[in-house]
Amino acid sequence: MVGGSGMFDSNLIVAPMAGGPSTPELVVAAAESGAIGFLAAGYKSVDALATQISAVRQSTENFGVNLFVPDQRPVDQGALAAYRVELQTEASRYRVELPELAGPDDDAWSEKLDLLTAQPPRFVSFTFGLPSSRVLSTLQRQGSLVLATVTSAEEAQQATELGVDALVLQHPDAGGHSAAFLDLEATPWSGSLHGLLKAVRQLSSLPLVAAGGIADSAAVSGSLQAGASAVQLGTAFLKAKEAGTKEVHRSALDDRRFGRTARTRAFSGRWARGLENRFIREHSGAPSGYPQIHHLTSELRSAAAAQGDADGVNLWAGTGYSLARTATSAEIIAELSRQI
Ligand SMILES: Cc1cc2nc3c(=O)[nH]c(=O)nc-3n(C[C@H](O)[C@H](O)[C@H](O)COP(=O)(O)O)c2cc1C
Repeated sequence: MVGGSGMFDSNLIVAPMAGGPSTPELVVAAAESGAIGFLAAGYKSVDALATQISAVRQSTENFGVNLFVPDQRPVDQGALAAYRVELQTEASRYRVELPELAGPDDDAWSEKLDLLTAQPPRFVSFTFGLPSSRVLSTLQRQGSLVLATVTSAEEAQQATELGVDALVLQHPDAGGHSAAFLDLEATPWSGSLHGLLKAVRQLSSLPLVAAGGIADSAAVSGSLQAGASAVQLGTAFLKAKEAGTKEVHRSALDDRRFGRTARTRAFSGRWARGLENRFIREHSGAPSGYPQIHHLTSELRSAAAAQGDADGVNLWAGTGYSLARTATSAEIIAELSRQI
């Protein structure tokens, strides 16, 4: 059993990982090992999310659901159109048709909120932005504890003033998308995760969850000693037996050809960290434009994965990826909590 205090009865959180890795099996396995797992609502239909929530509820109530907050910022249509032209070589390579550029979409935001309001999970976390105060108070009234993901002191200040129950502090070493929402072009936090914890502690008394680059038991206990109430790990679970990570992604994590991670906008139009591959190198000038670029590259990514070509797939991973183990979640959790 992983200990915990305050609002978390465990101090180890298995991160929400949209796009496949988060499964009901992973969330249940986390709960059974004394950790807290999150379902990832991002990219899913409401029906698929409802099915996953029901599946988890057969075994546990100790879980959370994570939502992408839609971004209403205008995007540069000219830059998007130019990027679509650039991607024609990829379309030929993988023999797919690029779709026309889509308009903004909100990832079924209100339908997902309605579902969570009707069947409140113990925890709801947000990334890519903050919910409105109306949405926040509705969820809290229904009994959910609400976490906001932040990447800077300024974002932590806003989330604290809004009245969320806890903050997930995401360091840029994290795998997957950056949760940044105030300034998408801002230079990411350049200090350590412990430095981020310290900076946010000076302006917020909320429970803090440390995330990003935590990959072994020493880093877990170090973050807790540095004042985090819990830690949230994603990459460490990408190769877990219960994760839904694609085969091409799992094997790339073990492939010495991919020797480091990089931040990129090439796959989705939003900064994210993944194993540096050909696609990232060849499209280093990709513009900002989420979710339009996510939709634009969707077929390309699927075709590359189907062809087993890891060089055309978004291989999200944090800087600690070489420590990720192929094992059951119970084994991974036991190892990570060895020093707490
Ligand atoms: C494959 C993948 C998908 C992710 N998807 C989400 C997501 O849907 N929502 C979210 O809030 N964070 C997501 N994240 C980020 C994690 O919540 C967390 O911040 C990150 O994994 C922590 O860093 P680490 O990967 O070094 O452990 C994702 C991370 C990965 C690796």
